[in-house]
Amino acid sequence: MTRLFTGEELATTVRRLAAELSSAYPDGVVLVGVLKGSVVFLADLVREMAIPVEVDFLAISAYAEGTGRVRILKDLDIDIAGRHVVVVEDLVDTGLTITYLLGQLERRGPASLEVCALIDKAARRIVPTRLRFVGAEVGDEFVIGYGIDWAGRYRNLEEVFAGELESLRADPDAHVEQLYSG
Ligand code: IMP
Ligand code: MG
Repeated sequence: MTRLFTGEELATTVRRLAAELSSAYPDGVVLVGVLKGSVVFLADLVREMAIPVEVDFLAISAYAEGTGRVRILKDLDIDIAGRHVVVVEDLVDTGLTITYLLGQLERRGPASLEVCALIDKAARRIVPTRLRFVGAEVGDEFVIGYGIDWAGRYRNLEEVFAGELESLRADPDAHVEQLYSG
């Protein structure tokens, strides 16, 4: 297991993204957080933004491997018709999830619709996806921390790590002892 981004590096990245968003949407924006992975990132992001921000959330099911079919489990509360909308994702991997989601949201007639992803695994992309705002690119590694989980674990880590997928598959708590000293 290796550390990919320190808390300080994440803070720098978040400040840069917040500045990009603030200058792209001077009159305000709706941020749509995809539960649950985006929550930590989104909470830091909004507090660095210098424009009016409305926040809403939706939750989607993970797709069965290879299918790309995703379901909305919890929908937005607000109507995004005519609004400038940015979907905030923790991580875009194959691109299947975000592609499905953008298709669903586009039908609701937003004034504009873009994506802000903390981490882009561009090399793993199956569906070409335009990510307007990207925090950092990583290779083909399994990432945990700063909102990003494995089986519900590790979201509250302040740093981002590359986990060992084989170990985590065998035991979801495989990295707990090393990563939580308390
Ligand atoms: P997709 O392959 O782009 O559809 O990615 C869908 C979702 O898979 C992401 O939003 C994450 O929730 C999850 N995922 C993909 N790669 C990782 C990873 O490295 N760590 C944790 N979750 C991941
Ligand atoms: Mg996700």
